[in-house]
Amino acid sequence: MAKKLWEKNIDVNPEIERFTVGKDRELDLMLAPYDVLGSLAHSTMLESIGMLTAEEMQELHGELRNIYTVAREGNFTIEEGVEDVHSQVELMLTRKLGDIGKKIHSGRSRNDQVLVDLKLFTRHELQEICEAVVALFDALQQQSEKHKEVLIPGYTHLQVAMPSSFGLWFGAYAESLADDMLFLQAAYKMCNRNPLGSAAGYGSSFPLNRTMTTELLGFDSMNYNVVYAQMGRGKCEKNIAFALASVAGTLSKMAFDACMFNSQNFGFVKLPAECTTGSSIMPHKKNPDVFEIMRAKCNRLQALPMDITMIMNNLPSGYFRDLQVIKELFLPAFAELKDCLAMATYIIERIEVNKEILNDSRYDAMFSVEEVNRLATEGMPFRDAYKKVGLDIEAGTFVPNKEVHHTHEGSIGNLCTEEIRKTMYSIYEAMNFDKARNAEEALLKA
Ligand code: ARG
Repeated sequence: MAKKLWEKNIDVNPEIERFTVGKDRELDLMLAPYDVLGSLAHSTMLESIGMLTAEEMQELHGELRNIYTVAREGNFTIEEGVEDVHSQVELMLTRKLGDIGKKIHSGRSRNDQVLVDLKLFTRHELQEICEAVVALFDALQQQSEKHKEVLIPGYTHLQVAMPSSFGLWFGAYAESLADDMLFLQAAYKMCNRNPLGSAAGYGSSFPLNRTMTTELLGFDSMNYNVVYAQMGRGKCEKNIAFALASVAGTLSKMAFDACMFNSQNFGFVKLPAECTTGSSIMPHKKNPDVFEIMRAKCNRLQALPMDITMIMNNLPSGYFRDLQVIKELFLPAFAELKDCLAMATYIIERIEVNKEILNDSRYDAMFSVEEVNRLATEGMPFRDAYKKVGLDIEAGTFVPNKEVHHTHEGSIGNLCTEEIRKTMYSIYEAMNFDKARNAEEALLKA
């Protein structure tokens, strides 16, 4: 069995090792490419302060780039007896390069290594989440504009209330995503600061150049205070989880509406047949399971900030192994949300809307407010008009005028699609993902 990085002359009890390593050997695989990027930046900086020669740095970089390719191709493994990704990369370097590999850990600790890995991983994943959110946003806005003339009942208390429209319904979820994007932007900005150089959480007596690694990795700035850099573990994940939860909240509500509107009792929308699932006993069934799974997954994602809080809450400053357990919940959350976003986009692009909903007389009463407003515009006091229409409905003599004239901002007749689009894109574009991408590409170029 390979020796631990920290093993001196006491053998570790295998059960204690199994328990403390936990799921790291599996989960850390997701961090492997980012561990390499961090090491590329760290070794470049070590050379600049005379801790490595230029030749040693070149050799390390060549090998690190090989490991990067292996990791990106999905072939990176953490060997039996090796604790985590950080140990595995160092082992691979030492096997290939001998003493040069052993030099790379000067001025760092696995504590700041895992911090920087998590930041780089999350930065990448947040980019993909934002792209997926924008794709769904575009699909919703397109459907909103396409069906803006199609009226549907609006509900309060699940009771028929007032006229609404597919323009409003699709557009509402688009605008909700624009607000979610604000959380994603804050999450991205908080994430995009460099913790490398904080070492075990108290810095190093080597004259590290943290500005240099910040620039090499394309971070906006650093987490300056080394104690705070370490304190950010858990806090950063929790706040990013809030952003993911915000998106998940939009999706789970939309999924519920979609399931409900797809039911025969509503019949407002129809999912494409290829997107429904059947029953083993009832031959007629075309179930909206996809939205039900999405709703459950997104409801669970909304518990993520709380789950993380329960792990890291009440820890004092400084590193604790508790923080390792957060990875179990945090790392898989991105793939889960991206999957839901992709499914939602696919179906929203293809969902069919019923244009004849209002021919059903059960919805007639929702035009009552329109009628009251018409009488009031003609001069009848609002309260008298309200009473007259109410009595007409009770007597069964109310005849709805199904023409609606809503003109104010954000109403059926004035959706403000363009304004909402501007809100979304100004937040999205301000994140400037290219900066991070370009820095990573430059590091990887030989
Ligand atoms: N697997 C560890 C984690 O995720 C890496 C850091 C180990 N540091 C330590 N002091 N044991 O937190």
